[in-house]
Amino acid sequence: MSRAHVTINGKSFPIAPAVPRLTVLDFLRERGLTGAKEGCAEGECGACAVLVARPGVRKPTDWVAVNACLVPVAALDGQEIVTAEGLATPGEAGTPPTLHPVQEEMAVRGGSQCGYCTPGFICSMASEYYRPDRCAHEGTDADAADQAAAEHGANGFDLHALSGNLCRCTGYRPIRDAAFALGEPTGDDPFARRRDQEPPAPVATAYTRDGSTFRRPLTLADALRVLREHPDAVPVSGGTDFGVEVNIRSRRESHVVAIDRIPELRELRVGSDHIEIGAAVTLTEIERRLDGDVPLLAELFPQFASRLIRNSATLGGNLGTGSPIGDSPPVLLALDASLVLADADADGEREVPLDAYFTGYRQSVRRPGELIRAVRIPLPLSPVTAFHKIAKRRFDDISSVAVAFALDIEDGVVRKARIGLGGVAATPIRAHATEAALEGRPWTARTVEDAARELRSAGTPMDDHRASALYRAAMLGQSLKKLYAQNTEAVSS
Ligand code: FES
Ligand code: FES
Repeated sequence: MSRAHVTINGKSFPIAPAVPRLTVLDFLRERGLTGAKEGCAEGECGACAVLVARPGVRKPTDWVAVNACLVPVAALDGQEIVTAEGLATPGEAGTPPTLHPVQEEMAVRGGSQCGYCTPGFICSMASEYYRPDRCAHEGTDADAADQAAAEHGANGFDLHALSGNLCRCTGYRPIRDAAFALGEPTGDDPFARRRDQEPPAPVATAYTRDGSTFRRPLTLADALRVLREHPDAVPVSGGTDFGVEVNIRSRRESHVVAIDRIPELRELRVGSDHIEIGAAVTLTEIERRLDGDVPLLAELFPQFASRLIRNSATLGGNLGTGSPIGDSPPVLLALDASLVLADADADGEREVPLDAYFTGYRQSVRRPGELIRAVRIPLPLSPVTAFHKIAKRRFDDISSVAVAFALDIEDGVVRKARIGLGGVAATPIRAHATEAALEGRPWTARTVEDAARELRSAGTPMDDHRASALYRAAMLGQSLKKLYAQNTEAVSS
């Protein structure tokens, strides 16, 4: 479809003749917008970050920062993006532009040296600057204040907004100073005002060039029909995994079907006996909409890649790829989640417990043509929960081992235990034997020692470049002991 176009910094650009897989980053740079850079091409450095107008959580529109290296330009047909160049206000004839407040603070506080990372930082920082619920922190005690000082500014700026941006020059402190110095957007700020209007609606796209097609159906029924008619078509949601495959491993697909804006996949409902999260709701949206109501998810999100990735990544994508080291499956296994699978050929939907979903390395019971519509988490939630991600870095890393716990402990006795594991087998798994070793027994050091021994032998951990099998097994046992150490008093009091 030759009318496909994208609005960049207020100006419309036709997407043709770009090939569908051309990234937004390359598209921008080929048109002279060279602020966004390529550092890694796999979503790890943030040098390519740009802002996209997307449906908002608290206002009609959020300015969402995304990695332009992972987004195919065809996915932004009809959409509106802003780059670091577009944030400044152009000057009158012959006069320089007026810097955006984020650019101004970065400049005066030394947040930019070589400048390679700077446009990406600017976009991530601007996204947080315009977050409608960013508000000043009100500390109540020294601990809270210290913690807030580390990760939140007095202006409410959440440093996790920058967790996907790397800088080799500044040492980060000047960047943090700039972030924490930001005030509120002024009343006449055009980007702040833009949040009060709806973002561009998704556009039904069928864009073909050089034998490859990018298609965006607008309804679940259309998506299922396309997948039935084109069995080779690959459904892609946030693209944070697929984009890496395209860039780094030269994956080439003749037919890609974008499912990230399908309304039926973007619902989030809290019912009386379960929470249902649409497969294409982004992790950032889940985090902000649940607002801590599922503590285990709230613990997961800051450890899941970076804010830039979470702004696009979805539970459906993380489960659909079937990676044994995805971060969400251990947590969802501990939450006893199930998946709702939709199929055009079958009678609508079927529900599959996540515990029965994975069948082998990157394989599952999902049939060709079937889509994950939603994830269901039963209520009530178990009160004692924890997610332990063992990785070399605290943030933005791949886990060596991941363990999620959800326990019901009443009168000092473990009534129910659910333990999800990642990184110890060809698939994410439940630690059934350990759960059995805990259930019905008193929550004591002796019980935990016995169960930890069982947990150390769970799965079939391997030696690889991230960790040895021995280390992985040891970490499993230590995780349970850590959970006990952190919950002994809370449970017995
Ligand atoms: Fe590194 Fe895009 S180029 S995240
Ligand atoms: Fe040089 Fe950040 S200023 S990489």
